[in-house]
Amino acid sequence: MTTLGLIGLGRIGAFHAETLTNLPNVERLVVTDERPHVVAEVATKYGATPADSVADLLSAGVDGVVVAAATPAHAELALAAVDAGLPTFCEKPIASTAAESARVADIIARSGIPVQVGYQRRFDAAFAAVKQGVDAGTLGRLHTVRSTTMDPAPPPMDYIRGSGGIFRDCAVHDFDAIRWVTGQEVVEVYATGSVQGDPLFAEYGDVDTAVITVRFDGGALGVVSAARYNGRGYDCRLEVHGFDDTMVAGWDEGAPVLNGDPNTSFPTGQPHHFFMDRFTQAFRAELSAFVDVVGGAPIRGATVADAVEVAWIAEAATESLRRGVPVAIDTVKKEAQQ
Ligand SMILES: NC(=O)c1ccc[n+]([C@@H]2O[C@H](COP(=O)([O-])OP(=O)(O)OC[C@H]3O[C@@H](n4cnc5c(N)ncnc54)[C@H](O)[C@@H]3O)[C@@H](O)[C@H]2O)c1
Repeated sequence: MTTLGLIGLGRIGAFHAETLTNLPNVERLVVTDERPHVVAEVATKYGATPADSVADLLSAGVDGVVVAAATPAHAELALAAVDAGLPTFCEKPIASTAAESARVADIIARSGIPVQVGYQRRFDAAFAAVKQGVDAGTLGRLHTVRSTTMDPAPPPMDYIRGSGGIFRDCAVHDFDAIRWVTGQEVVEVYATGSVQGDPLFAEYGDVDTAVITVRFDGGALGVVSAARYNGRGYDCRLEVHGFDDTMVAGWDEGAPVLNGDPNTSFPTGQPHHFFMDRFTQAFRAELSAFVDVVGGAPIRGATVADAVEVAWIAEAATESLRRGVPVAIDTVKKEAQQ
């Protein structure tokens, strides 16, 4: 049986608290957050042990740590947990920028402490089936990949301000999925974006709608699109096209699309509302895999090395939007070293 610490109890942290307390191998959960009233609320609701600070949590006899605090705190909190010798699960992204992610990754690699990163699509049955199809060669040579993430409504604007922008915060899920599923590395991106909703997006140097074209090292091309306003629901889809076959993830009965074909009723279900209902099972499987990591098993989800590569793709997309030209991943890596 495992005792876990959970740092950060906002939208996803409170959700993870519920998931973690329902995992069979988690005996005790110790929770903390910068906001004491939230600590008290979550502790009471889930029967968790409250801790007054991160330092208190790290010395409360926990076997592993889940970092679900706001993005700007990830690097410091993940490194504090690793410094305490504790296997760590860190929500995406591992740090605010790619350069910082690479720095954190170096320290973590030297420590030898296992750190899993929160890219839950890897634990979704449909995404995993597409990966299996690609790996088994049934699609043949891949030519086109399309990946979409559309939120029904933006998170609070305070969150947006510290998020690092739509590529580092939202499209990173797509970047991780397309690398993982295709087994190919992204070599170049060309991003465009617009602000069509809250003008604060522009004030924060962000966009609420983005499209990124992607070139892979294996020759395949991709399109990633992300949007913060999608009234019909949470739309997360992956389509992988090969010379021999096509596979999709996210085309389930809850796909939030209204089919215009008069002879087709699909999809018939309640549209997915948000990432929490769409990926409930994936989050559970992901955190359950982390409990196994705490018990000594190898990481089955995204590693820190994966998260760093994803961060460079997000960096290149951010720069591509700013410069208005395609940007190679190697270019942003080299520029960061200068
Ligand atoms: N995997 C996913 O699909 C997914 C979905 C949503 C959010 N996230 C990630 O999870 C993180 C949190 O997102 P959210 O939507 O819950 O944000 P949120 O703003 O709702 O919550 C963040 C919480 O972190 C706390 N916090 C901030 N700094 C802290 C620190 N130094 N120590 C302790 N607590 C601290 C805040 O008080 C707040 O309660 C973000 O990094 C985000 O990228 C991942």
